[in-house]
Amino acid sequence: MAARRRRPAVLVYHPDGAEAYARFVNVPRGSDVVIHVASTEADAALHIAQVEVIYAWKLPPALYGKAKRLRWLQVMGAGVDWALEAPDLRRRVLVTRAPGVFGTWMSEYVLGWCTWVTQRTETYRAMQRERRWDDRVLPERLRGRTLTLVGIGDIGGEIARVARAVGMHVVGVSRGGRRVPHVDRVHRTNNLHRALSAADFVVLVLPLTPTTRGLIDAAALAAMRPGAWLLNIGRGPLVDEAALLEALRARRIAGAILDVFSIEPLPADHPLWGLDNVVVTPHIAGPTTPEELAPVFNDNLARWLSGRELHHVVDRKKGY
Ligand code: OXD
Repeated sequence: MAARRRRPAVLVYHPDGAEAYARFVNVPRGSDVVIHVASTEADAALHIAQVEVIYAWKLPPALYGKAKRLRWLQVMGAGVDWALEAPDLRRRVLVTRAPGVFGTWMSEYVLGWCTWVTQRTETYRAMQRERRWDDRVLPERLRGRTLTLVGIGDIGGEIARVARAVGMHVVGVSRGGRRVPHVDRVHRTNNLHRALSAADFVVLVLPLTPTTRGLIDAAALAAMRPGAWLLNIGRGPLVDEAALLEALRARRIAGAILDVFSIEPLPADHPLWGLDNVVVTPHIAGPTTPEELAPVFNDNLARWLSGRELHHVVDRKKGY
């Protein structure tokens, strides 16, 4: 009797409830696939040795060493650093990103907080609390202000489009310095300080890699204008946190809107919580929703099952 071919096995893992993600997984007609669903490390460990495909958010690092059959990891989320940093992730495993999903969320976050600054939201709320009517205090406009995007991939590109639509001047920074739609001027990374010095708002939306870690150091912060705001929606370690604290305390920059941190959750005694020129948000600028991610995974799953090349494969040497 001919040996039966093993059915390919997929693990859907999410610590906040993998079921919601599994519900949107679409196995193409005629394909025979086993789907395992796990929301805890212990449950994932039951299946990890059998699976060829993992669709996950922050799979516990200890599991990679046991994933002997793993060939493809689809990351749920904007950044892939947590997967690439896992020491036991084998070289042959393809890692895929999820572009096209987070740009709308993150562009609204950026524009929202830029407007929070220019519309002097805090000032008017404080005046309201004091029942004080003072029409000499006027809002400012975003039109004509410069937004520097450090990172102009698919999310940065969407932020650029939205910023331009409200009349902002958009400067970009990227490794290659290639022109990108909606970005008025692109600098290479070696011209970072020039790009920073032009900005009213600096947005960090680049991946965390060994070369971008600590990119925004004391010298980079010193290159920013005193009236400029830093928005970090990329990763905490892109910024030298001690240098940032110093710049904020000395008011060498106007302030910072921070969604990501070197340690998350941000510890309750962290000094960033207490600074009046800092806004802390809990890593929510680009939420992951099962229904928005599913089409990216399902398209690649169909490709995988029919032996076609996957879309959005990460260049593991570059780290994105
Ligand atoms: C991330 C995300 O990768 O929130 O940080 O998607």
